[in-house]
Amino acid sequence: MKDAFFTVHSGLPREAPGDADSLAWALDVAQTPVRARILDAGCGPGADLALLRAKRPAARLEGLDLHAPFIDRIRAEQPEVKAEVGDMLVLDGSYDLIWSAGAAYGPGVTAALAAWRPHLAQGGVVAFSDCLWRTGRPAAAARAFWDRDYPGMMDLPGHIARIEGAGYRILGARWLGAAAWEAYYGPLSERMAALRPGADAELTEVLDATQAEIELWRTHGGDYGYYLSVVRPV
Ligand SMILES: C[S@@+](CC[C@H](N)C(=O)[O-])C[C@H]1O[C@@H](n2cnc3c(N)ncnc32)[C@H](O)[C@@H]1O
Repeated sequence: MKDAFFTVHSGLPREAPGDADSLAWALDVAQTPVRARILDAGCGPGADLALLRAKRPAARLEGLDLHAPFIDRIRAEQPEVKAEVGDMLVLDGSYDLIWSAGAAYGPGVTAALAAWRPHLAQGGVVAFSDCLWRTGRPAAAARAFWDRDYPGMMDLPGHIARIEGAGYRILGARWLGAAAWEAYYGPLSERMAALRPGADAELTEVLDATQAEIELWRTHGGDYGYYLSVVRPV
């Protein structure tokens, strides 16, 4: 099943919702300097590293991810980036910006914020997105999916409380829009359509589950969303 999952998810531009518009907004809110040291923690296949490079060409960019094939791909496609396999909770650099799109939920947002704090340079900022409930009464199908995929997913007041509890102040925050979801689900849908003919039982199961996830967003996507927060230690 793991092999089938990576078959579906290999070669995609990104592995979570996100877009150039929201990333540019975060850089503005963070006032990220021209020659910033920037880490993309949980960088996946590197779409945001490319966007960061376009917005801050003189920056020193690093990408970190547990999944070695993503890092191999970044090394091949973006040689300007220092890409390493590693755990985002175990850093050794100092950064003006730690960017993390849809990845901090892996080790846990609170653990990530605590681990990143000592690795922020003077005035350094964290910009990260996390999936949150947008309603206290989500559709049953949405509740069932996210309880399985992200148990303990928070609502906005809980999210703000954990950021502040970790010793950070929120400089700015916004929900990602439909374009950010399409940037993820669009290429994923195309890949699934290409894989469907001739798929074996295991692959078909992953394709069906992924299709259901996309349909869930199209039907009940208003019940949840990715919230991008730009935060600085108090
Ligand atoms: C949902 S994907 C998002 C990837 C990327 N940020 C993007 O938007 O395309 C989450 C990524 O976080 C990585 N990840 C999860 N836990 C991690 C950890 N503790 N350290 C480093 N990477 C981690 C996963 O391997 C995966 O590539």
